[in-house]
Amino acid sequence: MKTEITWHGHAGFSITNGISILVDPFFSGNPQAKADAEDVKADLILVTHGHFDHAGDAVKIAKKNQSPIVCSFELSEIIKKEQVETIDINPGGTIEYKGVRATAVPAIHSSSYNGLYAGEAMGYIINNKDVKIYHAGDTTFFKDMELIGSVYHPDIAMVPIGGHYTMDVDGAVEALKLLKVKNAIPMHYNTFPPIKADPVEFQEKAEKLGIVVTIPGIEKTFKV
Ligand code: NI
Ligand code: MN
Repeated sequence: MKTEITWHGHAGFSITNGISILVDPFFSGNPQAKADAEDVKADLILVTHGHFDHAGDAVKIAKKNQSPIVCSFELSEIIKKEQVETIDINPGGTIEYKGVRATAVPAIHSSSYNGLYAGEAMGYIINNKDVKIYHAGDTTFFKDMELIGSVYHPDIAMVPIGGHYTMDVDGAVEALKLLKVKNAIPMHYNTFPPIKADPVEFQEKAEKLGIVVTIPGIEKTFKV
């Protein structure tokens, strides 16, 4: 496979194979960020939900790169007033952009943007014809992750492990069992004190199930 992934910290990733897909940009105000939103390149931006730690830099980066933002209908209604192009979607929907498909799937979480209700929180299945990646967004585990696994067959699952606002390490391991996925990447941990978690503990628990866990460094790029 030729896809390169860069973790920007928290839930932020760039997934690049010709086209660069940026998920959940959060640089400004992110104590772990090692890059500046001004410098990030993106052809398409996917936002899982409206919370500042996922949507915070979406508008700024969209304007700079002239790139559309994929997000929920309600979040789109809010941010399109800021003169950005949006593609509104809801769980079950798929968009295609320059050969990359992104399908919105459910997540169990809340969503607001600057105090306004922003629709349902979602995850995404991203298929760039090289690899299929499930970015779970902010969520707990839920039984329908079995369906996400059996219908979309993701190669890699990006899952929150930090607890408090999402599932924790043990919850994320349950999610991997439901998904029946072979590769996983932890996210959404150690950015703030309430979401302290040990990615090595997650790695060890997942590897007992035969799942390969990659723990990326922030702003380090790796191939999948
Ligand atoms: Ni959230
Ligand atoms: Mn979050």
